[in-house]
Amino acid sequence: MEPDSRIGRMSDWSILRATHRRPLRVALLPCAGRGERAGGGRPKQYVEVAGRSVVHWTLLAFDELVGQGQLDGVAVVLSPGDEEFVQAVPPALRERLQVMPVGGATRAHSVWGGLQALAREGLGDTDWVLVHDAARCLIEPAELLRLIVACEGDAVGGLLACPVPDTLKRADALGRVQDTVPRDHLWAAQTPQMFRLGLLRDVLGRALQAGIPVTDEAGAVEWAGQAPKLVAGPADNFKLTYPDDFRRAAEVLARRSTSIGTTP
Ligand code: CTP
Ligand code: MG
Repeated sequence: MEPDSRIGRMSDWSILRATHRRPLRVALLPCAGRGERAGGGRPKQYVEVAGRSVVHWTLLAFDELVGQGQLDGVAVVLSPGDEEFVQAVPPALRERLQVMPVGGATRAHSVWGGLQALAREGLGDTDWVLVHDAARCLIEPAELLRLIVACEGDAVGGLLACPVPDTLKRADALGRVQDTVPRDHLWAAQTPQMFRLGLLRDVLGRALQAGIPVTDEAGAVEWAGQAPKLVAGPADNFKLTYPDDFRRAAEVLARRSTSIGTTP
């Protein structure tokens, strides 16, 4: 297939693998949602926050790791017919990505489409895939590296997650407290979630076929009877979901750029 220079180059992962002694590590960003809860009238990954689109910020963290040789490539799943991505990400960065217009009806279907495309293009069953929400734009390269280091020797793989700090209440149908849920051992799942391509294709394909509602990759792996590793992630790696999250994200990004500017 001819490379589409407008949206990014195609890769042949099998050629790349021949030059590596370790399994490849490829990031897969589902970027095909509509952002309905954000209510902005357009997909939230294309909304501008602190001077860049949300997905541009997300991609910068992954691109830095590619530059360091810790990650071998970044693939982005778009809705078929998406015309906003090319406006939202500068050409020089797009050149280094693989863009796959295979998004589906749910996040899980978009990830599934992306995994199938990666396999078709030569990524192997034992290669690693780091699935990360395009809308989780506060991820930092150091956290990505921590996940890789924690998971690359693991038989199953794992995910960034945060121990739940708040007291948890279960609500009744009237919105009153039914009981308090002990928060011991409870973690809030984040992304990236890092699993081998072969395992993830197998469990996600089976879970979707069985009609299991899959909201993250780890959920599919657990459903298949395996226990992903929890790797403590940063509290500010939140997913932009509701309108107020955009203001919070802008504050974090502004604070980071100020602290970079004042570092001796
Ligand atoms: N996503 C996707 N394909 C879908 C749905 C979601 O690729 N069919 C992506 C989103 O673009 C986002 C990530 O999955 O980067 C997390 O999903 P979510 O926060 O639910 O985003 P949206 O589905 O866009 O938002 P909402 O549920 O509020 O409509
Ligand atoms: Mg959604």
